[in-house]
Amino acid sequence: MIYPSFVSPLTSLRVIVAADPAAAAELAATRILTLLHSKPTAALGVATGSTPSPVYRALSRAQLAEPLDLSRARAFALDEYVGIDARLPQSYRSVIDAEVTEPLGFQRSHVSVPDGSAADLAAAARDYEAAIDATGGVDLQILGIGHNGHIGFNEPGSAHDSVTRVVTLTQETRKANARFFDDNIELVPRQAITQGIGTILKARSIVLLAFGAGKAGAVARALEGPIEEASPASALRKHSDVTILLDEAAASMLS
Ligand code: F6R
Repeated sequence: MIYPSFVSPLTSLRVIVAADPAAAAELAATRILTLLHSKPTAALGVATGSTPSPVYRALSRAQLAEPLDLSRARAFALDEYVGIDARLPQSYRSVIDAEVTEPLGFQRSHVSVPDGSAADLAAAARDYEAAIDATGGVDLQILGIGHNGHIGFNEPGSAHDSVTRVVTLTQETRKANARFFDDNIELVPRQAITQGIGTILKARSIVLLAFGAGKAGAVARALEGPIEEASPASALRKHSDVTILLDEAAASMLS
């Protein structure tokens, strides 16, 4: 069952509580397909991690059933670990290739991921921000949220007008992502290149997904707590077109 969406009394965000992640993912996939139908040259902002995977699987099923020509569409990843070999399965380049580029049929040259192994990381970050702007910006940004409220790898304390840059990951984030590195936190990179919060807010529309009780606190703080740097996702309330797709567990701490 999908509950009717509601507009939060504190913000203009649309919040939709779906019965389960699969139902929420279908809604996100439909949003993406509608965009790509109406604008074949659209730029999609893609997150990695566990949360968006069912969205990409739903899109992949839709592509098999009724293929859409994505040869002119673009995609920009949110972030990439610093110092990771892009060929390793844990690199976000590999994840995006496996979950987005190949199954959905994007042209490889139209899918950008920050270069976490660049000799000059600051220049790579600047170039990434410029590349997003040069293509006309992201039409629809898909986001997950960290337990500490991070979006992209913008950890608490990130400026809400920050741009793409090199950041240091918190111990909490490295611990959460150790599941992708044989449960060994020592293998999780300490730094990343991430789109800034200001970069994310430049997207024309944003869809954030969150599933499970573990995300309930971060969701409640983002939507109902103060808009502050200690709460990166609270910055989304400054944007005029944001949809939050939750399962019941992730919505459980909303008043
Ligand atoms: C991923 C990203 C992160 C994740 C967040 C949640 O590109 O930028 O902000 O969205 O860490 O990760 P999951 O979905 O694995 O819980």
